[in-house]
Amino acid sequence: MTNTDQQIELLRFTTAGSVDDGKSTLIGRLLYDSKSIFEDQMRAVEQASEQRGDEEVDLALLTDGLRAEREQKITIDVAYRYFATPKRKFIIADTPGHIQYTRNMVTGASTAELAIILIDARNGVLTQSKRHGFLATLLRIPHLMVAVNKMDLVDYDEAVYDQIVQEYTDFIQKLNVQDVTFIPVSALRGDNVVDKSENTPWYDGPTLLHHLETVNVGASLNNVDFRYPVQYVVRPNQNFRGYAGQIASGRIAKGEEIAVLPSGLSSKIESIVVAGEELDAANVGDSVILTLEDEIDISRGDMIVRTNNLPQKSNRVDATICWMSEEPMKPRGAYWVQHTTRLVNGFISELNYKIDVDTMHRAEADTLTLNEIGRIQLTTTQPLYYDRYQLNRATGSFVLIDPATNNTVAAGMIRGKSRDVEQLMAGEVDTTPERPKSTNVVWEQEGISLQQREERHGHQAAVLWFTGLSGSGKSTIAKKLEQRLFADGVHTMFLDGDNLRHGLNGDLGFSSADRQENIRRAAELAKLSYAHGNITLACFISPFTADRRFARQLVADGRFLEIYVKCDLNVVKRRDTKGLYAKAMAGEIDNFTGISSPYEEPENAELVVETDIQSVDDIVAQIINELKARGILPAG
Ligand code: ADX
Repeated sequence: MTNTDQQIELLRFTTAGSVDDGKSTLIGRLLYDSKSIFEDQMRAVEQASEQRGDEEVDLALLTDGLRAEREQKITIDVAYRYFATPKRKFIIADTPGHIQYTRNMVTGASTAELAIILIDARNGVLTQSKRHGFLATLLRIPHLMVAVNKMDLVDYDEAVYDQIVQEYTDFIQKLNVQDVTFIPVSALRGDNVVDKSENTPWYDGPTLLHHLETVNVGASLNNVDFRYPVQYVVRPNQNFRGYAGQIASGRIAKGEEIAVLPSGLSSKIESIVVAGEELDAANVGDSVILTLEDEIDISRGDMIVRTNNLPQKSNRVDATICWMSEEPMKPRGAYWVQHTTRLVNGFISELNYKIDVDTMHRAEADTLTLNEIGRIQLTTTQPLYYDRYQLNRATGSFVLIDPATNNTVAAGMIRGKSRDVEQLMAGEVDTTPERPKSTNVVWEQEGISLQQREERHGHQAAVLWFTGLSGSGKSTIAKKLEQRLFADGVHTMFLDGDNLRHGLNGDLGFSSADRQENIRRAAELAKLSYAHGNITLACFISPFTADRRFARQLVADGRFLEIYVKCDLNVVKRRDTKGLYAKAMAGEIDNFTGISSPYEEPENAELVVETDIQSVDDIVAQIINELKARGILPAG
């Protein structure tokens, strides 16, 4: 069987409906009537039903009862239930019945091709039924099946069914759904689940199972972008080192060049192993073990991709989330972010709006409560390697976990990089803002050229850009360095975040946009100072790579030295020279770098100095040596 055959033969689906809608009974009925369960399982369920004095076999026990032992192992993974008919294999992504219904859909959604939405015929279309439909579209599940359940309790009344179909069709037209099928069923009595019912002569559509067996599948999977999140490293002995996981998307063949993220190291696929057998290639959905030609350090949570087809990278993403916890969203709260097999720290840096599913309108919100859907900006301490959900349901989704309780509280779909939205909303395109407010200005040429100044000063001009956490020691180092330079007759200028914020930048706070503006002004000042021949010492947290890049490109190549003043967060917290960390941790300061706002570590700083290891004098000497080596200061 080829891989394509396998995809056609396999349907992954999820179910949505609250406990009372009969989700468990429906799945039980499917398993029972399609004879997909073992004799002993059946006996166990029959006995249990008898013991409880039930008149009929309680099919829900098939799904709920057999779950107990598995449940203990479930943390954030869904339980997958397999069954097969001669026509097709099925995987139902299913979560325990007591867990909120939305979770079912979202957790199983990355590979699901169909969602069964259960509507209780007695209750008609409820807000939650609409929510399921909306979620299914958000999740880009290509096929929707609306099972109008408990038809027996409305006497198989065609009018009741038609009314629900009409109402739901009206709603669904507002969404972008490709394919919806309605089926009147009674999971309890077995009507139209596996066998066609005599109670609904007015219905001439397929049974539920028939539809599951024949619906077109495979088209919505991403077969292009190879993404392989490593689940674990297999090392049975010294001679074998493999990486186990499931191919989240795309395909891979032996000999292909790959890169490992986040390290960026590259190698080639040496072998693809499934159950001890080697394959030449493997496809999306396959669980395999890969071995590589080179020994490189790889661990759980890393992602293997093709060298020439890399995912996006960012630690701030724009996302749609569905809140799944009784506990409302904590605005700016810290959560763990489970993205593919990787777990990183993150927090919700903005809640932009929530969506009213009845009207499909955006509404302002301070928080999200159970089952609400909203748009957020998510910030993570380490970058995520993602694709937009639209392109890749696996690498485009994540769940949020409350670190205090270990509960999954939300599921999210990545729309893109955060910055893009901010800029979009602020009408900005680039870090270099257009400033239409000052038109008709010309650049006043200096009467004295930089070269003349440098000759006079006896050294070159440069910008030393100190970046690092608050309290990491940027200003301490810069001040000491400036004293040394001053003593040697070097022309300097000292710019410092705190100082500038007392005057020129006094109108700015600490939102991303304000920090961007803060750095823009600081960088422009540094540029002027540079043009005047100074060695400019600029000390700003400047947490964002893009802003530092902006500062860099304002001066000549080789004259901008990014100096990363590195210090462990725990150490700066302990030092807490300004007492700000204590306040930030107590929630008294918003957007505090390292606590509730990210710091993007420089990746290509000219110098990295470590204040928790080196002394200030050592660091100053190190910088002076560097300046001499680069010819900025005269040697000797
Ligand atoms: S930057 O992020 O925009 O580059 P900048 O270097 O100008 O910051 O200012 C940082 C200084 O402002 C810190 O050293 C600290 O004294 C003070 N500060 C006040 N609030 C905050 C905050 N929320 N985050 C970081 N620093 C803050």
